[in-house]
Amino acid sequence: MANVYITRMIPQEIIDTLRRSHEVEVNPEDRALTRAELLRQIHGRDAVISLLTDSIDGEALDAAGPQCRIFANYAVGFNNFDVAAATQRGVIMTNTPGVLDEATATHAWALLLAAARRIPESDRYLRAGLWRGWAPMDFLGQDVDHKTLGIAGLGRIGTQFARKAAAFDMKVIYSDLKPSPEFERQYGATFVDKATLLRESDFLSLHLPLMAETRHYIGAAELAAMKPTAVLINAGRGPLVDEPALVEALRNKVIWGAGLDVFENEPLLAPGLAELENVVIVPHIASATTHTRMAMGQIAIDNVIAVLKGEPPLTCINPAVLG
Ligand code: DGY
Repeated sequence: MANVYITRMIPQEIIDTLRRSHEVEVNPEDRALTRAELLRQIHGRDAVISLLTDSIDGEALDAAGPQCRIFANYAVGFNNFDVAAATQRGVIMTNTPGVLDEATATHAWALLLAAARRIPESDRYLRAGLWRGWAPMDFLGQDVDHKTLGIAGLGRIGTQFARKAAAFDMKVIYSDLKPSPEFERQYGATFVDKATLLRESDFLSLHLPLMAETRHYIGAAELAAMKPTAVLINAGRGPLVDEPALVEALRNKVIWGAGLDVFENEPLLAPGLAELENVVIVPHIASATTHTRMAMGQIAIDNVIAVLKGEPPLTCINPAVLG
């Protein structure tokens, strides 16, 4: 029986399904493995289901050993994978695309609305017993309806995010490597360059993959180019934003607000970020719905089961290894 290691607890039903056909061991601790534990635990496994917090590079692949056929990420993002190193060693890498688009896009909207209408800030105020009754000038926020929504990165999640803008009759502009005429037709969206996106967006949401080219897509210069009333949303990857620069911009009201699901050095926050009232921060939970986390697990085990049977996986990141 092939031996599969799962680096952290995922939904039990998924593990039970995999156990019907394979020997499965799961990290019993409710925490990420240390690097030393990871290297030790993956040694000798035929397949590994890893998390976005596990860095799977050449060292990890070598620690797993040449019998290891697949690393299946329990995430759509795979910036924790050294894909070239895996391809060089003939190891298959997979992710979980498609099943978390709606949950993640909805969560980005939750951040947008919460930041625009100052929901967490006013909730804190009320709980602290500070409310003295209705007041005309309390917690004035930003209108969302009829505003300009900017989208950086028009992948599956960016597209789902755009789709929901119709509810607020927003003008949608977007930037990506190339325009999508089909998307423009469907959503009345306009393709713009990055400078226009920064200049015109009332709300700017990041849906780019994290790569060398997209690291610090938003830094001090980009923040300065945005409207002083703008709200930045990031439910992609933390390093898309220069977080200390964002803290400065929020503190000095260079932009009006932000909603962040992801951070540059998770689980740490940039100094000063948590003290700011004009930012909504949540701990990387955009895909955290029961249904979505099950669906992610199902893809991960379907990939593992297929590869261990000698079949191609459903969602291969490095198809070059399939020959
Ligand atoms: C992903 O899948 O990449 C998210 O960040 C976690 O679901």
